[in-house]
Amino acid sequence: MTGAARRRPLGVVTRGTTNPNRLRRVDNWIVATCADRLRAATDPLVVDLGYGATPVTAVELRARLAAGVRPDVRLVGLEIDAARVAAAAPAADPPGLTFARGGFELAGLRPVLVRAFNVLRQYDEADVPAAWRTMTAALAPGGVLVEGTCDELGRLGGWLLIDADGPRTLTLAAKLGTLGSPAELAERLPKALIHRNVPGEGVHDLIRALDGAWHAAAPYAAFGPRQRWLRSVAQLRQTGWPVLDRPHRWRLGEVTLPWTAVAPRT
Ligand SMILES: C[S@@+](CC[C@H](N)C(=O)[O-])C[C@H]1O[C@@H](n2cnc3c(N)ncnc32)[C@H](O)[C@@H]1O
Repeated sequence: MTGAARRRPLGVVTRGTTNPNRLRRVDNWIVATCADRLRAATDPLVVDLGYGATPVTAVELRARLAAGVRPDVRLVGLEIDAARVAAAAPAADPPGLTFARGGFELAGLRPVLVRAFNVLRQYDEADVPAAWRTMTAALAPGGVLVEGTCDELGRLGGWLLIDADGPRTLTLAAKLGTLGSPAELAERLPKALIHRNVPGEGVHDLIRALDGAWHAAAPYAAFGPRQRWLRSVAQLRQTGWPVLDRPHRWRLGEVTLPWTAVAPRT
């Protein structure tokens, strides 16, 4: 293999759809959940993989991490589409924010954190494990990958925290003011789970249980959707689901569970 062939970014160009503030839910979760890891790093390098047609969500992630975690965070937006790298150049603010061409191999970088959002959604489910392995192999020691999906406005989303040993947690998140019912989250599961919302699978049981708890909590709607969600997640936990996070995260419309509770069974 030639040097040029080795440097070819791994992956394929897909639709570049993005929107300002689309990823605020996962960004806020990253700030809350990954701050210690980033603060402890000698080189606080973060990669936003697949930022899309405009770099707006990469710019936002850098700003959120700089304000909420450490001002010297260094974010590199990687895109497999060279035209999107060129289009992002005016938004660069080196050394804190730069853009480059790269794929799942992460262009030779060794980041502490990778956010890859709405990237694997356009791949086949069968491609997911290799993509995870390639990305996690490139992380700095102790680094993590946050991989997931959301709707166009960021009102519904689901993401996985993945480290060198594989997926650790699933987080579901919704804008509660516009949530009809938790069943809507099924459409925005990460690629590894979206086709598993069928009887016999853990994620199907989870969505059904959360939806059932939401309907049982209907009387709490009088106090607003936040109270109803809080009640629903509490009920989920009471019925034996190993909910990992606490009410201060539930209040934001989130719930986090271990991967083992939802991992595909077949
Ligand atoms: C739908 S956009 C997502 C934009 C942004 N992350 C968001 O969530 O709004 C997906 C982007 O990922 C890029 N992409 C797909 N596979 C990739 C890969 N292996 N490495 C880097 N970028 C990739 C595509 O070119 C596309 O621009």
